Amino acid sequence: MRKQGGSYISFSAVGLLLVALLATLHAPTVQSANILGVFTSHSPSHLIIHMSVMKALAEEGHNVTVVSSMPPKVTHKSIKHIVIPLSKSEEQTLNDGMSTLAKDKPSMTTTMKTIFGSLSLLINKQVDILEDERFTELYRNKGNKFDAVVVGFFFNMYQVGLGARFNCPIIVSWCGQPMEQIDNVIGNPVLTASVPTMHVGVKPGQAMNFQQRLANFLSTIGFRGFSLFLEYKNDGFYKRLFGNDPAMPSYAVAKKNVSLVFCNSHAISEGPIRPNVPGIVEIGGIQIKDKPEPLPQDIQEFLDNSKHGAILFSLGSNLKGDHIKEEIIQKIFKVLSGLKQNIIWKWDDLKNTPGKSDNILYKAWLPQDDVLGHPKIKLFITHAGKGGVAESQYHAVPMLALPVFADQPGNADKIVQSGYGLRLDLLTLKSTEFKTAIQELLQNPSYANKLQKFSKLYRDRPMTARELVVYWTNYVLRHHGAAHMQSPLVQMSVIESNNLDLYVLLTAVLGIVLAVNIALVKCIYRKCCGGKRCAKKNAQKTKVKKN
Ligand SMILES: *[C@@H]1O[C@H](CO)[C@@H](O)[C@H](O)[C@H]1NC(C)=O
Ligand SMILES: *[C@@H]1O[C@H](CO)[C@@H](O)[C@H](O)[C@H]1NC(C)=O
Repeated sequence: MRKQGGSYISFSAVGLLLVALLATLHAPTVQSANILGVFTSHSPSHLIIHMSVMKALAEEGHNVTVVSSMPPKVTHKSIKHIVIPLSKSEEQTLNDGMSTLAKDKPSMTTTMKTIFGSLSLLINKQVDILEDERFTELYRNKGNKFDAVVVGFFFNMYQVGLGARFNCPIIVSWCGQPMEQIDNVIGNPVLTASVPTMHVGVKPGQAMNFQQRLANFLSTIGFRGFSLFLEYKNDGFYKRLFGNDPAMPSYAVAKKNVSLVFCNSHAISEGPIRPNVPGIVEIGGIQIKDKPEPLPQDIQEFLDNSKHGAILFSLGSNLKGDHIKEEIIQKIFKVLSGLKQNIIWKWDDLKNTPGKSDNILYKAWLPQDDVLGHPKIKLFITHAGKGGVAESQYHAVPMLALPVFADQPGNADKIVQSGYGLRLDLLTLKSTEFKTAIQELLQNPSYANKLQKFSKLYRDRPMTARELVVYWTNYVLRHHGAAHMQSPLVQMSVIESNNLDLYVLLTAVLGIVLAVNIALVKCIYRKCCGGKRCAKKNAQKTKVKKN
């Protein structure tokens, strides 16, 4: 009996060892986790980026639920989607705002009024979504348990409270490079001296000149002021959402609990080169497919039959045809219909197109990334939104940028500076300059050559964007957060992180030392010379000596 028991034990011990060995052979895997994505920013291009993150997690086998204000273009069959849409009148307000900005050259005050009007609607609306029953049901229904929440950032940092709400780690997803509020929440150093903000373009390896540093310094201060105002608003929103719940921490506490931020940027190839804490994970190009998917048949045939190459023309998902002045549209049509190249024109209202021409194919929606990947595409005429620019750079397609607002002018400047394309003003577009720019971009190979170089750098990474998303999310799930790699800056106030108190102390000490020294010198001077009397005596003494 004893012997048998012994062998049984050793057998199970060997079995355990085997299991342990097998487990170490594979990287530790995470069982399918319940992950919630909350993407309340009402922008199709933002949603594409966030959904690409969630798609990677769903493909990994996680159980993904997503809440957003619009149906997604990118998704996965296993993702459960909850749409809480804007009302008709809210859509109308946003639409009118867009139209104001894109039609006539609006005055500075109109521009500011429109931008702030739309922005405040976009910001306030995000709180409404979290108050909607379709959302609150997710935590009222106690059967629901989430292992991680991914929040899409768009001036809504109060949403990091959802980590405490669901008692799980919180990850932030952001569509661009690290910026002020992202830096603050993850403890990334904000260095006014050395990190160019998104409005200042600096070539790699070059110093900022005086003018650029001044612009950079002022815009960093400006952003900080805006952030302070937003933080005040965020605190109010947070109280409105979670204030009645005694189990919830304060906003100040919840804000110090973010595990990771996924930033849709790739500094090594795109710049600017800057220090990032480990909590910043750069997943630039997450929305770009490794291999293009098959195109819809009409597009495929149209492109295949383009003897002289083809051009993709799209002003993005926010700007619709009727936002732009008819006169400008007509100029664009005239130039494009006169080219020998084929053109795919993204146009929403297929019943009212700008005009018929054999070389133009209008599409209300198109798989932009896959189209840009087609070898016949030689030029991308774009509003210079971050997503489209990244795709075009990835596929090494030169760009003609027609930016209108937001980050578009900055992106367009970077395109020109890097030699990836040219920029024109959409609102004052002239036929001749439009045509000349297109010809230059089609005929001069330097743009495509520079892009080829970039594209190689952009693709050369130790892990793909998708692998990074999966690895780091699983990492956070395995360790139930990432408190161990939190930057101390998260815990420090503005005064502490900038050492302002130390400067005050050191100045005071220096002042005291200086004052003591001055007093001492005065005292010594008085003691040994006794002022004027002393001088006289000395004079007498020397006289005596001479005598
Ligand atoms: C997936 O997550 C949702 C939301 O938490 C939950 O209701 C559902 O039961 C989960 N499904 C599985 C298969 O775990
Ligand atoms: C902090 O994050 C952990 C998971 O990483 C979560 O369980 C906890 O509820 C969060 N606490 C606060 C105060 O946000």
